[in-house]
Amino acid sequence: MSDARISAPAHQQAGFALTNTQLVLAATAATVVLAAALISIGGPGSKRAAGKADMSEEAVAMRLQPVGSVVVKAAGGGEPRTGEQLFQAQCGACHNAGTLGAPKFGDAAAWAPRVKTGYEALLTSALKGKNSMPPQGGGDASDYEIGRAVVYMANKGGASFAEPKAPAAAASAAQ
Ligand code: HEC
Repeated sequence: MSDARISAPAHQQAGFALTNTQLVLAATAATVVLAAALISIGGPGSKRAAGKADMSEEAVAMRLQPVGSVVVKAAGGGEPRTGEQLFQAQCGACHNAGTLGAPKFGDAAAWAPRVKTGYEALLTSALKGKNSMPPQGGGDASDYEIGRAVVYMANKGGASFAEPKAPAAAASAAQ
């Protein structure tokens, strides 16, 4: 361009003025781009965020539940499920039919030798897993809920375990 003509003040001024104009144009363009970016975040971006909500723990847990169950652990820790509720939501997936060699629900013969080991041993198996049974029966339950499900299942298999204490009561009882 005119850069070669170093000594031409008029050109320099023009060049300077042009540069200012370019700056203004660039700033305007940048603002437009930024605005467009912000709008797109609020537009399709927010739709994507809504889609992500379906990946929430609750939604995922709901999809993982066996068909026919309507029990969902309340988000943010609602009422703990009863043993029967957790069993139906989760444990029954294997224990109803004896899948993977699980002791069947209500099968006293299958449960008798296990019941003899005592509630604590069965609870530990349920919490930590045992052979083909994944820890926590493969789900997301509190230890208390697991305990209730163990008692529910074992009692239907001939045990007479007492309902486990609620966490607060258990904590104060331990002191
Ligand atoms: C993926 C299948 C599966 C699920 C789901 C499952 N279990 Fe089991 N469970 C098994 C199998 C298999 C065994 C037998 C393990 C063994 O003794 O080899 C078993 C055994 C047990 C036992 C006896 C453990 C022992 O020490 O003899 C208890 C108690 C038990 N399950 C509780 C539960 C509870 C409570 C749930 C739900 C929270 C549950 N299970 C969910 C497969 C499952």
